[in-house]
Amino acid sequence: MEFHVYENARAACEAAGVLIAAQITRKGDSVLGLATGSTPIPAYEMLTQWYDRGVIDFDRVRTFNLDEYVGIDHKNPLSYHAFMQEHLFSKVNLRPENVHLPSGNGAADAEAYDKAIHGAGGIDIQLLGIGRNGHIGFNEPADDFTYGTHVVTLTADTIEANARFFKSADEVPRQAVSMGIGNIMAAKCVVLVATGENKAKAVYDTIRGPITPRVPASVLQLHPCCVILTDREAGKLMLEE
Ligand code: F6R
Repeated sequence: MEFHVYENARAACEAAGVLIAAQITRKGDSVLGLATGSTPIPAYEMLTQWYDRGVIDFDRVRTFNLDEYVGIDHKNPLSYHAFMQEHLFSKVNLRPENVHLPSGNGAADAEAYDKAIHGAGGIDIQLLGIGRNGHIGFNEPADDFTYGTHVVTLTADTIEANARFFKSADEVPRQAVSMGIGNIMAAKCVVLVATGENKAKAVYDTIRGPITPRVPASVLQLHPCCVILTDREAGKLMLEE
């Protein structure tokens, strides 16, 4: 597991953009695993800028997002479909048939999603954020690690953390469809970005704690190609060691 601390959040996220751009440069038909949330936005901005300058080309790239809320209209600006349109898909030459997100319809959707990832040859590079509770995708702390894409009931902590995007916590959907830990572990390379002091404990537990489904990201200790990029705040407890 590689761990790098950057001066600020922007630099940590842009470093993730560098790794994704390098992957696309090496392999034009790369399969990217993508994340939503506040953290990856600077990475998408960098990828868009490099696309505009002709440095990278998304014509043959395929993408699979980690998750989508259950029961949310894809046109709703708070859906992850809308988020990806806004921050990446509408800005680069990704072909619509090459972008994939769970539809958010439930269990049948989940099985089809795993088949589609498999059919694309698996994910070359998976971008991840992390929840304050150590979740990756929407794999919340649990008694067991999940394998494939599945329907998740969001924890109170995640509902509260995501309420900032909605009018109130009451409006945050209670369920999501998420890739499982098995899907994430099957990616050839994983890049996790964490920024802000409220992620410091999750980062420390991920890297130094026991491998446990109570801190889902801790399983990444077993991944053969995992890079964790943080700003000084999220890396604080690691720096204090
Ligand atoms: C988003 C996702 C989540 C977020 C995590 C952190 O697709 O899967 O695991 O990465 O909740 O969110 P932010 O970046 O908003 O702090």
